[in-house]
Amino acid sequence: MTRAARLGAPILAVALAGAAPAPVHVDGERLKGLLLALAEFGKNPEGGVTRVGFSKEDQAARVWLVERMKEAGLDVWVDPAANIHGRRAGTDVSLPVILFGSHIDSVPKGGNFDGDVGSMGALELMLTLRDEKAVTRHPFEMVVWSNEEGVHYGKGVFGSRMAARGPDPGELEAKDEEGVALAEWLRRYGVDPARIAEARLDPRRVASYLELHIEQGGVLHRGKVQIGVVQGIVGIDRFHVSLEGFANHAGTTPMAERRDALVAAARLILAVREEVMARPGRQVGNVGFVQVLPGAPNVVPGSVRLPVELRDLKREVMDEMAARVRARAEAIGKEAGVTVAMERYANDEPALTDPGLQDLIEATSRGAGYSTLRLPSGAGHDAQSLGRAGIPIGMIFVPSKDGISHSPREWTEWEDAARGAEVLYRVLRALDAQ
Ligand code: HGY
Ligand code: MN
Ligand code: MN
Repeated sequence: MTRAARLGAPILAVALAGAAPAPVHVDGERLKGLLLALAEFGKNPEGGVTRVGFSKEDQAARVWLVERMKEAGLDVWVDPAANIHGRRAGTDVSLPVILFGSHIDSVPKGGNFDGDVGSMGALELMLTLRDEKAVTRHPFEMVVWSNEEGVHYGKGVFGSRMAARGPDPGELEAKDEEGVALAEWLRRYGVDPARIAEARLDPRRVASYLELHIEQGGVLHRGKVQIGVVQGIVGIDRFHVSLEGFANHAGTTPMAERRDALVAAARLILAVREEVMARPGRQVGNVGFVQVLPGAPNVVPGSVRLPVELRDLKREVMDEMAARVRARAEAIGKEAGVTVAMERYANDEPALTDPGLQDLIEATSRGAGYSTLRLPSGAGHDAQSLGRAGIPIGMIFVPSKDGISHSPREWTEWEDAARGAEVLYRVLRALDAQ
């Protein structure tokens, strides 16, 4: 069975068009092998993976990856933001680089496809170019960004943000629950945080950035569509919310006299949902966890900490949601006698993909015989950091089974992953030829 047939290219349609099915370049089996090998780092007994950014599991996977990238014949280096780069020279040194990649860090108890398909797809592409002894005009550079999920230290797209705009004030000195500063983890990863400015990319030296990723939602899977052409990436605002009530005896404090921070928090969580759903649209809001102090069955909760995350493709929609949630928080606090503070600590701006790259991804996919659909991304991605820095960005989605992600049950068919890598390969070759 030819590679084309294995990837389900509708041979009939292509044959009817009289053209032989275009040969498939990438090796789907090798890509599968890379994904399975990567899945061993931070593997969970119940399936899936916990390979949080800036952790020993992530570090072990990075060491393995650097070796694989060297085997692909790439010039490999790690920048001061711990992004792993692998470059393949082009024939014309005056040309800007064609950049592509994704991430390999995961959320706790996540899946083996989020970021991994894009990173291993990029590596498979480089291995294919090596095997084909391909000659490109532009330098091709794959990059695996550090701490995309931002579970550790709370802020997402760390590595790509450093490349696009540098750290927020105090970001490298911020400490985690164990009191370890982010800068310390950079040192543990073998890079010097004092040189973080050297991780900045010069947008004039980057022709474009392409990212292959799983859709994570269920639109492609439900629609039986093979390739998603991403139109834009949502913005993500994250807020620290603290609710300060008064801790007291749960037996002797009359209900009417309680200043119960957890009751206020419960009302606020519902208010977030109500305000996010108050208007039609794709905007979403999430409260991912609650920390309750002192946290004893016979003590009225005195203080609560929780994060609120708001997302939409439009900045003004996110600001409007935040304003309404803030107003609800104030009213809830007043009513419960609880002081509520809501402080935004992370904001990744929405980013639209380049229309020309959308057209190229669509035409290239259809040329390969794959079905396509244009859609926005409800998940955040490193591509948005680069888009905000003025670099033309394009994203290629492949289906996520049942729209499940950030879960051990996250699944993408191997053939779908290979189709995505094939589209990435063809789009980059077409860009190089332009
Ligand atoms: O959170 C996100 O959207 C992405 O998965 N980092
Ligand atoms: Mn991702
Ligand atoms: Mn993710």
